Amino acid sequence: MFIGKFARAGLGIVAALAMSTAIASAEESVEVLHWWTAGGEAKALQVLKKDLESQGITWNDMPVAGGGGEQAMTVLRARVTSGNPPTAVQMLGFDIKDWAREGVLANLDDLAGKEGWNKVVPDALKEFSKYDGHWIAVPVNVHSTNWVWANKAIFDELGLKQPTNWDELITDLDKIKGAGYTAIAHGGQAWQDATMFEAVLMSTGGPDFYKKALIDTDPAALNSDTMVKVFDRMTQLRGYVDDNFSGRDWNLATAMVINKEAGVQFMGDWAKGEFLNAGKVPDQDFMCFRFPGTQGTVTFNSDQFVMFKVGEDRRDAQNKLAAAVMSPTFQSAFNVVKGSVPARTDVSPDAFDACGKKGMKQLAEANEKGTLFGSMAHGHAVPSAVKNAMYDVITAHFNGEYDSKTAAEELVNAVESAQ
Ligand code: GAL
Repeated sequence: MFIGKFARAGLGIVAALAMSTAIASAEESVEVLHWWTAGGEAKALQVLKKDLESQGITWNDMPVAGGGGEQAMTVLRARVTSGNPPTAVQMLGFDIKDWAREGVLANLDDLAGKEGWNKVVPDALKEFSKYDGHWIAVPVNVHSTNWVWANKAIFDELGLKQPTNWDELITDLDKIKGAGYTAIAHGGQAWQDATMFEAVLMSTGGPDFYKKALIDTDPAALNSDTMVKVFDRMTQLRGYVDDNFSGRDWNLATAMVINKEAGVQFMGDWAKGEFLNAGKVPDQDFMCFRFPGTQGTVTFNSDQFVMFKVGEDRRDAQNKLAAAVMSPTFQSAFNVVKGSVPARTDVSPDAFDACGKKGMKQLAEANEKGTLFGSMAHGHAVPSAVKNAMYDVITAHFNGEYDSKTAAEELVNAVESAQ
């Protein structure tokens, strides 16, 4: 009897405990602000949502459409100002440093130490994942921006070969245009103009010039004959886009290549996510190759989830999110879908398609040779204020407001006043 009573009381305690654990875990949630709203991007994010949901963590999605993330950053500012930051925010390069400086980011050092992140995250990414020696963000991927995405059927039909230099590119574009297709699928938005610009610049001036102009912002490089030539080439490319390019979203431009309306798109490897999402196969339906003249160099950007300081009750879920992002299984599964390559150096290339394998190999080689540079267009070369100043000049020139010489001069002025 005594035993029975005790056992019943014990059972009651166990049940109560089980219930409170259930309530605690049911209440665990993360709120994630991001700009992954295109088909391929959303599909990749699903991998992370499912992972967390399998751990009993609710995913509160906060998507802010707009490639390159400018709009997302505006929304974020409003949230932090009102004292209610999301758990984690997709962010690029120098933006992370800006937020870290404001002292509003969480410290992930305990988890990082336990899981050995220092050993597996390359220095080029740690530059942004850590601030003052402390982990504040987790890198999800490494994208690279100097790619061409081409419709294989159009290339086959017109007997074109993959261009390896500027002249070959122009020859191909002429043939594509001559056959009645849109040669270049492009969206006239500042970040897309800048993505094309940095590839043209790398192709025209080479790695030393890229570094001087877009990383060191050396006025002599910004206003140079080489820069005038870069702008001239942008004008030349402007002649191959269709009449409706203005304001078009990047994924709609990718769809033009997918649907055989356009020959090529110059875009980061997130474009591959769109091809895959449409059931297309590399080397069969589409081709990926480096922007002509940039072979051997890689301009990169890495999406990181930046962790904001949140209340004690949200810390556990935040740590679980960070741990999930850094797990090798996730890094493989996510990046296979997203078009990027893993941010960890110890993930096998086996699960990746031909473009992914090429991307991983070329990234490692460029890193080795010193030809890996941060993408200006995607926040990894200069702080946002300078990046935006460059955007303004590049877009104004692309839309015919400046001639090439004036644009080179304006670049120096704009950068100086932003610094
Ligand atoms: C980039 C980002 C990519 C991709 C792209 C278009 O800045 O790094 O992950 O989403 O914008 O939205």
